[in-house]
Amino acid sequence: MKYLCFVVFLAIVIAQNYSDLGGVEAASSNGFVTRKGVQFIFNGKPFYANGFNAYWLTYEATDPTTRFKITYAFQNATSHGLTIARTWGFRDGAIYRGLQTSPGSYHEKTFQGLDFVIAEAKRLGIKMIITFVNNYSDFGGRKQYVGWAKSKGQNVSSDDDFYTNPLVKQYYKNHVKTMVNRVNTFTKVAYKDEPTIMGWELINEPQCRADPSGKTLMAWIEEMAPYVKSVDSNHLLSTGLEGFYGDSSPQRKKTLNPVAANVLGTDFIANHNVDAVDFASIHSYPDIWFPNLDEKARMDFLRNWLEAHIEDAQNILKKPLIIGEFGKLTTTPGYTQDQRDAVFKATYDIVYASAQKGGAATGAWFWHLISDGMSNFKDSLAIVLSDNSSTANIISEESRKLRLIFGKGKLSRKIIN
Ligand SMILES: *[C@@H]1O[C@H](CO)[C@@H](O)[C@H](O)[C@H]1NC(C)=O
Ligand SMILES: *[C@@H]1O[C@H](CO)[C@@H](O)[C@H](O)[C@H]1NC(C)=O
Ligand SMILES: *[C@@H]1O[C@H](CO)[C@@H](O)[C@H](O)[C@H]1NC(C)=O
Ligand SMILES: *[C@@H]1O[C@H](CO)[C@@H](O)[C@H](O)[C@H]1NC(C)=O
Ligand SMILES: *[C@@H]1O[C@H](CO)[C@@H](O)[C@H](O)[C@H]1NC(C)=O
Repeated sequence: MKYLCFVVFLAIVIAQNYSDLGGVEAASSNGFVTRKGVQFIFNGKPFYANGFNAYWLTYEATDPTTRFKITYAFQNATSHGLTIARTWGFRDGAIYRGLQTSPGSYHEKTFQGLDFVIAEAKRLGIKMIITFVNNYSDFGGRKQYVGWAKSKGQNVSSDDDFYTNPLVKQYYKNHVKTMVNRVNTFTKVAYKDEPTIMGWELINEPQCRADPSGKTLMAWIEEMAPYVKSVDSNHLLSTGLEGFYGDSSPQRKKTLNPVAANVLGTDFIANHNVDAVDFASIHSYPDIWFPNLDEKARMDFLRNWLEAHIEDAQNILKKPLIIGEFGKLTTTPGYTQDQRDAVFKATYDIVYASAQKGGAATGAWFWHLISDGMSNFKDSLAIVLSDNSSTANIISEESRKLRLIFGKGKLSRKIIN
């Protein structure tokens, strides 16, 4: 009996801790996420939250018979305390389940897929970050936009004309406008009025090799960020940048950038130092950037990379920072699960150390979440939470810790006592 009481007590304690991992409560999700200084604010309180990438959501939601995968993914995510999902707001071109099939033409079924994703996120208490276009040619991207302009007789040759050709820029603005004015067929709420959407990103991982000085990409951000705000003043906005330093911080550029990144025409400080950009974005892929370094050196880089950007977001930009993507490739020679866990743990510990002090690091969102049984999306970075792996436990622990920083801790103690 005593034993039973203890077990019941323990179950309640554990359940209580885990109920802290539930989604952003439905009752409080009528507010937008905003920003104050280096913090996100949600319902009047600083908002630090763990999250994930799932680029496949709209694709799978386009077919009603596979929509359950979105539900499973979101339920598994919230049960691990993950309350922010980053996904694509594009599938450009005449491709299977394309979203924007040609400039200004949208495939209604695919748009309804995105509608479903947002409606389901709303129901389950997940906030969304949606990216308008891709740097790379996966799912269309800059290449497709430039291709469309070329077929209209424009004098364009490289993907980098994306940033300067007037017709291409108009196509981009039209897409932004269409997205924010879309009325969700499930919720009947326009995207621009939907608080489930936490914010937008201009472009996933922009690069512009045609102009390593960074001026071209900078001019594009200075034009597009205010444009997004002019058609949607409710939502936060970031760039989608990988975070490479440019000429505005020569020392960082020299000591931190992978050498190959010095010709990409991006500038972490200048690109985020634009009024219409609300928060800063970096990605973290030491495996990809340093294929020839050993694991110890890559881990050293990881720490320096994250800490430098957190410091700069805090002191120079004075804006929140997200680690919008990070992960560990299982295809890296010598890969072990312990290495993956070490990457997750180190990333989360650095974010937590800043968050705990109310600092600029607001969350790290791993690339990428898939549900069980999605073998067609299983690649060297995929995470299946229901595998109950050690990585999944590290993810839950970070979520729990972040949520306990502001407010939630007191609530659970009150209920237990
Ligand atoms: C619950 O969370 C607290 C931290 O808030 C921790 O100290 C405690 O060990 C956790 N209990 C269980 C059973 O997980
Ligand atoms: C960005 O796009 C260019 C092609 O236009 C490509 O060479 C580069 O690898 C892409 N970068 C990323 C991070 O996808
Ligand atoms: C096309 O653009 C290139 C590079 O900007 C320029 O050199 C060339 O003169 C242009 N061609 C035409 C027909 O305008
Ligand atoms: C997690 O996903 C699996 C399938 O991948 C599903 O069977 C299970 O119900 C999901 N769990 C939750 C809590 O949603
Ligand atoms: C994962 O752990 C949960 C809770 O302990 C359990 O209910 C579930 O069956 C486990 N799933 C797998 C795939 O091991």
